[in-house]
Amino acid sequence: MLLIPWITHRDARFYGEPEKFDPDRWSDYPTPSGRLPRFAYFPFGGGPRVCIGAGFAMMEATLLLATIAPRFRLGLASDRSIEMLPLVTLRPKNGIKMMLQERHRRL
Ligand code: HEM
Repeated sequence: MLLIPWITHRDARFYGEPEKFDPDRWSDYPTPSGRLPRFAYFPFGGGPRVCIGAGFAMMEATLLLATIAPRFRLGLASDRSIEMLPLVTLRPKNGIKMMLQERHRRL
């Protein structure tokens, strides 16, 4: 039996507008609205073999976002569609080229 996060994480029973890029849906992570059944969201697997780096990865991602997003606006550098490369992990086939625009700081 295979459990496929890609499928479960796009299940309309759990996520409104599942295909929409909506970071705000996670604004109350790690208990998204307290309404998700256990394992409706499992990026780090679960059970005895759960990812040992989950806490580190979440902290790293939070720090990166909190460091970069206030300084820069990020946008796609081209409107070429992004192809997926599903290997052991899922990644963009040709990377994702982004443009960074510095935000103007209010003093
Ligand atoms: C966004 C980042 C990451 C994601 C999405 C991720 C995801 C996963 C998943 C899905 C598994 C398999 C869990 C299972 O079998 O149920 C796993 C296992 C594992 N991960 Fe991660 N991981 C991430 C970052 C990391 C980091 C930063 C480390 C180390 C510092 C790490 C170390 C491991 C190890 C050692 C296992 C094997 C655990 C075992 O089999 O007992 N991971 N990870």
